[in-house]
Amino acid sequence: MSLSRHIDPEELVKRFHDSHLSEGGNNLRKLMKTSHLTPYGTRYASEAEVPKYRLPQEGAPADTVYQLIRDELDLDGKPNLNLASFVGTYMEPNANQLMAENLSKNLADNDEYPAMMAIQERCISILAHLWGATKSEKAIGTATTGSSEAIHLGGLAMKRRWQEARRAKGLDTSRPNIIMGANAQVALEKFARYFDVEARILPVSEESKFRLDPKLVEENLDENTIGVFVIMGSTYTGHFEPVEEISKILDAYQERTGIDIPIHVDAASGGFVAPFTRAKAGGPKWNFELPRVKSINTSGHKYGLVYAGVGWIIWRDESYLPEYLVFELHYLGGTERSFGLNFSRPGAQIIAQYYNLIHLGFKGYSEIMENCLSNARLLSKSLEATSWYTCVSEIHKPKSGAADVITGAKQALSGTVAESSADYIAGLPVVSFRLSDSFKKEFPNVKQEYVSLLLRARQWIIPNYALPPNENQTEILRIVVRESMSLDLLDRLITDIVAVTENLIEQQDSDLSALKHKSAGHAGGATEQPTSKGIFKRLEDGIHSEPSEATIISLTGPCELAEASPVNLLQHNTGRIDCVNSDRRPATAVLPGDAYFYRYTVTLLKELNSRRD
Ligand SMILES: Cc1ncc(COP(=O)(O)O)c(C=O)c1O
Repeated sequence: MSLSRHIDPEELVKRFHDSHLSEGGNNLRKLMKTSHLTPYGTRYASEAEVPKYRLPQEGAPADTVYQLIRDELDLDGKPNLNLASFVGTYMEPNANQLMAENLSKNLADNDEYPAMMAIQERCISILAHLWGATKSEKAIGTATTGSSEAIHLGGLAMKRRWQEARRAKGLDTSRPNIIMGANAQVALEKFARYFDVEARILPVSEESKFRLDPKLVEENLDENTIGVFVIMGSTYTGHFEPVEEISKILDAYQERTGIDIPIHVDAASGGFVAPFTRAKAGGPKWNFELPRVKSINTSGHKYGLVYAGVGWIIWRDESYLPEYLVFELHYLGGTERSFGLNFSRPGAQIIAQYYNLIHLGFKGYSEIMENCLSNARLLSKSLEATSWYTCVSEIHKPKSGAADVITGAKQALSGTVAESSADYIAGLPVVSFRLSDSFKKEFPNVKQEYVSLLLRARQWIIPNYALPPNENQTEILRIVVRESMSLDLLDRLITDIVAVTENLIEQQDSDLSALKHKSAGHAGGATEQPTSKGIFKRLEDGIHSEPSEATIISLTGPCELAEASPVNLLQHNTGRIDCVNSDRRPATAVLPGDAYFYRYTVTLLKELNSRRD
C-alpha cells in the first residue's frame, strides 16, 4: 500500500487531541485539577486551551507563559550550530549585561539619550578611521538596523547625486541603473526594485571566482549608471571582489567619457574582516584609500560580533550624502538630523558594538578574525583530504599559485599549520564545498542535499544551495566559521561530516529519495537566467532550506516503528526511524533533528500503521 492521500497534520493533531480529552466518555479538561506548584500545573497550562491565533480573553501567570513560550522555542535550531548564518550568536557576559540594562533605549530619542548618541558617533569615527577616511574630508555616517538598510541608504545617496548632476545639465533622469554581480545578496537587488533603479546583475563564472567580473562591468556602464555595488565578501563563497581593479576601470571610463561613476562597497561581512587580518583584502585596496569608493556599509551583527540588529554606513565626505535626504526633526524638545529608513530602533546594539570596539581593540579583533580564518582553513583542508569534497571557497589556498592539496591535507592532519592569513588567498572565513567529481562518479546515487539533511539530524545547520544563475547547476554546502566555532567544535563537525558521508556511501543502493527536499534551497536563489546584458534573477529568501513535510509523506509503503515512543526517539536523539517497506526491505527514515519533526513523524507513522492494519 503506498500513501497517496494527503495528510493534514493540523487535522491529525486535532483528532488525536480531542479523542484523548474525551477518553472513557469523560471530558478530561473538566476533570483536571490545577494547582500552581509549577508553571505546568496552572489552569492555563493544563486545563485551558491555549489560543494560538486569537487574543485570550483572560491573561495567564507570567511564569506559565514564560515556560510555554520557552518550551515552544526549544523546537528552534541551536544558534551556535547554525552554520548557515553570518550573524553573531555569542557575546561576552559583560556585553550581555550592558545590553540588558539598555534594552529600553530607543535610538530615535536623540535628546533623551545623549550619552548613547555620543557612543554612536564614536563608533562611526572608529569605523571611518578603520576604513581609511582621510583627514581632508569630513566622513559622515549612521547606525542602521543592518547592512540591508545601510545598502539602501548608500544606493539612495548615489541615485540622488546622479539625479542632481543630470538635472543641473538638463539631462534625462528617468532611467537610472546600478551594477552588481549575480552573487549579490538580495538586499542589493531589493534596493534597485524598491527605489526604481534598473538592476544590471552581471553573470558570474568560475573564471571570475563567482564574483563581479570587471570585464563585464566595463561593458555595462553608461551615462545612466548611478554606481557600482562591489562586495567585500561574497555571500556564496566568501570571495572578496576586486574593488581596486573595478575602480581603475571606472577611472579609465571617466577619462574616456567624462562620466564619473562612484563605488559603494558592500562590506557586510568583510568590513570587520579585511581590516583585521594579515591578508587584508589580499593586497589590493578596497576602502576609502580609493577615491572612487564613496560609501561603505557593514553589519555590526556579523563579524562586528554583536547580536542581530545593527549595521553601519559611512560616506567618505558629507558632500556625498545629498542634503535632500537628510531630515531635520524637531522632536521632543530638540532638533535632530537623521538619515535612515526607520525611526525607532534598538539602541542596545550600538552600545554593544562600542563595548566590542573598546574591549577588543585592533588586536582583539585581529586575533579573533585570524582564528576564524585558521579554523576555516583547517576545515577546508580536512574536507579536501577526504577526497570526497572539493572546496569552492579559496581561503585555504596559498597565495602563490594553485593550492597544494596534499601538503594542505598533511598539514591539517599533523597540525603543523603555522601560517597566518597573509599566506593565503584573502576572503571571509567561509567554507563552501561540494561533492568532488570523483565521488559523484563513484556514488552517483548520493545527492549532496542528503549531506545537509543528515547533518541536520545531528543538529548542525548547513545549507545546500545552488550557485548564482548561469552557474546554478553547481550546488554548494556552506559553512560560516564564526568566533564561536572553537577548535573542539570543529573536530566534532569534521567527524560528523565524515560519518554522515560514510553512512551515505554505505546506503548508496538504498532508496534515499525519501530524504529529498520538495525544493532545493538557494543563496538568494535564481529564478531567471541572465541575459547577455546580465539583467534578471533571484528569490527574496535567504539560504536556509528547511526539511519539508514531503520528506516524510513521500515514504513509500507502510512502516513499522522500531521505536514507538516519541520520548524514546527524543531521548536517543538518533535522528532516524527504522521501518520496513511493504516488500519487507529495511528502510530508514532519517529525520531532521528537531523535536517537532520527531513528534509529527511518529504520529504520522502510527497513523500509517493503523491504516495498514
Ligand atoms: C554581502 C551581503 N550584503 C548584505 C547582506 C545583508 O545584511 P543584513 O543581514 O545585515 O541586512 C548580507 C547578509 O548576509 C551579505 O552577506
